[in-house]
Amino acid sequence: MKTALTLSGSIRGNSYNRMLQSHVGRRLEAEGVAVNALELGTFPMPIFNEDLEPDAVPDSAPRLAELFRTHDIVFIATPEYNGGVPPLLVNVLTWLSRQKPSPLRRAVFGIGGVSSGKYGTLWAQSHLRDQLTKLGALVVPTLLGIGPATQAFDASVRRSSRQSSARSIRSFWN
Ligand SMILES: Cc1cc2nc3c(=O)[nH]c(=O)nc-3n(C[C@H](O)[C@H](O)[C@H](O)COP(=O)(O)O)c2cc1C
Repeated sequence: MKTALTLSGSIRGNSYNRMLQSHVGRRLEAEGVAVNALELGTFPMPIFNEDLEPDAVPDSAPRLAELFRTHDIVFIATPEYNGGVPPLLVNVLTWLSRQKPSPLRRAVFGIGGVSSGKYGTLWAQSHLRDQLTKLGALVVPTLLGIGPATQAFDASVRRSSRQSSARSIRSFWN
């Protein structure tokens, strides 16, 4: 059975990207994939600083790296901050990039994101895809951009019935 890690680049209480993470997890499960939904808040890491190596590396870094090394698929739902990747994800990726052997060369990566604006984090996703590729990751080229967030999910926090996001989601999978 194929295995997947899913994660959200936002740990905010009512994060739209966590909703997308859940939605994609359910879609993967429907395809017969065993899904491990991660909460990045449970992997605390200080802002990366080379002075922390090697004696003060947080346990979370090798722990998360091992999860990346042992799953077939990694799906990342990223918010967009100021046209870029949010600091939480940048920090996590920086720590992961320092773990040996590389945790980024095993899985196939999928990227998506939800934003309050209509472009659905496409700039952030593009930066993230570029960075992952530079680190040797194999990334599905299609980006799953969903926005505006308030129109993408209904009040009961289920998948949107709106045509636009349904189309986006379908184009990602088909
Ligand atoms: C510091 C900051 C910068 C932001 N920059 C952008 C941006 O560049 N593009 C965008 O579409 N939304 C931007 N937003 C709005 C986010 O899309 C919105 O807050 C979204 O809900 C964040 O994702 P989350 O719900 O998963 O936390 C920004 C929000 C914050 C707090």
